[in-house]
Amino acid sequence: MTSRFVTCARLMSGIGLAAAWALLACTGAFAQQQPSDWIVPDVTTLSDSPADRLIRKGRELVVATPSLIGPNVGDASTRYAGNNLSCSNCHLSAGTRKFGLPLFGLAHLFPQYSARKGGEITIEDRVNSCMTRSLNGREMPDSAPEMRALVAYIDFLSTNVAKGETLPGLGAGSMPELARAADPARGSTIFRDACAACHGNDGLGVRRSLPTTDLGYLVPPLWGADSFNNGAGMARLSVAANFVHFNMPHGTDYASPRLSVEDAWDVAAFMLSHKRPVKPGLERDFPDLLLKPVDAPYGPYADGFSVDQHRYGPFGPIRQAIDKMKQSPSPAAPR
Ligand code: HEC
Ligand code: HEC
Repeated sequence: MTSRFVTCARLMSGIGLAAAWALLACTGAFAQQQPSDWIVPDVTTLSDSPADRLIRKGRELVVATPSLIGPNVGDASTRYAGNNLSCSNCHLSAGTRKFGLPLFGLAHLFPQYSARKGGEITIEDRVNSCMTRSLNGREMPDSAPEMRALVAYIDFLSTNVAKGETLPGLGAGSMPELARAADPARGSTIFRDACAACHGNDGLGVRRSLPTTDLGYLVPPLWGADSFNNGAGMARLSVAANFVHFNMPHGTDYASPRLSVEDAWDVAAFMLSHKRPVKPGLERDFPDLLLKPVDAPYGPYADGFSVDQHRYGPFGPIRQAIDKMKQSPSPAAPR
């Protein structure tokens, strides 16, 4: 994130409803921070060596996850995923799209500190975090051939990236926040106009080949039993809203978003207002609650704000309360 953009976000969090139109000026500033060109290594140039075959297998696992490790594959021991999403339904273009949650250029960033775990995590841990949350499944052992293949592919995608370099374009982007709570009711209208044609009026997506579900979705579901669970990154409003702003409708390029900032927050709120699988044990996430993202949709929280405000915002007041607690020497002490 550029310092210019941080300034913009701070500015926005301080303004009231009446100045909501000014959000548009800030999106412009964001679009101008052009990430440098990415030299994505080409899988089609790989040889037939065992190492190169492993990389290709990893790419297949990313784009055809349910056919290989989904809940309906023949070999029960490789049913790691609990739903029929593919990694690439979220990590767009097989993980090579800027602000489409890329898997590109990541390898050197691991191991890294994870506030969610309260300790260091490896790339395998990070993949398993998506397996158990985004794919609502179970952990793959580090030694599983599928895990080795996924990590080989992620390593391969970092071939041209220097160690220590954090590339602009990672993640799902970071547009300004609203000064009000995101509004699922307003979002329902946007959903009907901008999403339902592909994801369905019921939001449940379109399967590739009924009656079998082995091959996953033509268009993935946004909620319901076969969607990501409530512990997933996409279940956080800011992640979903940015992903949608910079990538949806499908084919949108981050440099020219089609939904306004406001519409993206509201439609994401509508999406996240629906039922989805619940992951047990989430209360153990973020052992230091002051490091918990303000939009984690599940408690416990260090502050006194409602679950609803954590789910839909506005996040500015929560952030201010947390900052205050961080500065106070003993936050729990009664006054
Ligand atoms: C429902 C959407 C979704 C699916 C499906 C999904 N992921 Fe993710 N993944 C995310 C999100 C969102 C993040 C970023 C989380 C955050 O910002 O907290 C992420 C982060 C990651 C990261 C770390 C990226 C970074 O920038 O540090 C890796 C590695 C990863 N996922 C791998 C996978 C793999 C491999 C699969 C398939 C087995 C997968 N994911 C499936 C949504 C998804
Ligand atoms: C033109 C069809 C189309 C439209 C319109 C569209 N999407 Fe998508 N969406 C897709 C496809 C296809 C994918 C899977 C991406 C892939 O595999 O490349 C996807 C993926 C997603 C994902 C991540 C995967 C998941 O299932 O959670 C979210 C979230 C999402 N869309 C939300 C929306 C929202 C909200 C809108 C409306 C603003 C929208 N989409 C409009 C086709 C569309």
